[in-house]
Amino acid sequence: MLMEASALPLTPFRRGKVRDVYVVDDERLLLVATDRVSAFDVVMAETIPHKGAVLTQITAWWLRQLESRVEHHMLSADMSEIVREVPQLRDHQRELAGRAMLCRRTTVFPVECVVRGYLSGSAWKEYRDSGTLAGEPLRKGMRESDRLDPPLFSPATKADEGHDENITVERMRSFIGDQWAGELERLSREVYEAGRAIAAERGIIIADTKFEFGRLKNRKEGEKVILVDEVLTPDSSRFWPADVYEPGHGQPSFDKQPLRDYLDAEKRAGRWDGNYPPPRLPNEVIHATSERYLDIYRRLTGRSLNTDASH
Ligand SMILES: Nc1ncnc2c1ncn2[C@@H]1O[C@H](COP(=O)(O)OP(=O)(O)OP(=O)(O)O)[C@@H](O)[C@H]1O
Ligand SMILES: [Mg+2]
Repeated sequence: MLMEASALPLTPFRRGKVRDVYVVDDERLLLVATDRVSAFDVVMAETIPHKGAVLTQITAWWLRQLESRVEHHMLSADMSEIVREVPQLRDHQRELAGRAMLCRRTTVFPVECVVRGYLSGSAWKEYRDSGTLAGEPLRKGMRESDRLDPPLFSPATKADEGHDENITVERMRSFIGDQWAGELERLSREVYEAGRAIAAERGIIIADTKFEFGRLKNRKEGEKVILVDEVLTPDSSRFWPADVYEPGHGQPSFDKQPLRDYLDAEKRAGRWDGNYPPPRLPNEVIHATSERYLDIYRRLTGRSLNTDASH
């Protein structure tokens, strides 16, 4: 069942470009990944079949893989279990199946913890133009898509509107304090390294990714940092097929490549200026994008997504 937006009998917490978040109680949130898709920070008018379930189930899969290394927010991504915990959702099982995650509620740190294992995207552009990342010099002579060893921890602000801005670790410290900043960097690196090793066994390069962390509320045992939000999904990461990796230029990526290619062509043809409203997407593009998401789920987990919404 496609979902453009949810309307659940719970208190809305916030609505992002892709996910609708609800309050369950003081300690729990419900994250619902819709089938909305954004590209170049603009949300498309069309939805992508199975996208929400792919994102939620990839996050759930990773959190199970990473459980021994990092505490996280997932309580359940299984609809019957969620309904047992939140009976108000009983009439919404079909539309939510696969896409909902019951989570521990935290206060999210206002920084995106980006880890870059390869030089790409906005980091490559800044490096190409000025030899720096977030204003700090990097080694000379690197090419686009070169591997970075060790990976770079490159935090960004969480912008409510528009593009996130890369910031120095120094600025991150001044936002959230030295101790938290150190902890977030350590955890980000550890989770990324573990994730990239697992992905490599599956022929996937995780070029870069973004994590969010939150502080647990209502806990007597002192404040604790846990991993929240989506984790190592095609929306929060760049995934490259390892078999055709070649530095010196941009890489084809899994995820929204068909959508980006289409939109790029529309821009070049002068039919789209990159702002809202986006052009309408042809069915082939919607279909190809959906297939990409399902394919990355299969490659990572080794199984096909259960697309029977009534399970
Ligand atoms: N365990 C948690 N506790 C509190 N907030 C959380 C938790 N997990 C995720 N969030 C928040 O839920 C929201 C998820 O929505 P979503 O990612 O769609 O929107 P966004 O990140 O605000 O905006 P964008 O559309 O740019 O991604 C984020 O604001 C995220 O910080
Ligand atoms: Mg987000």
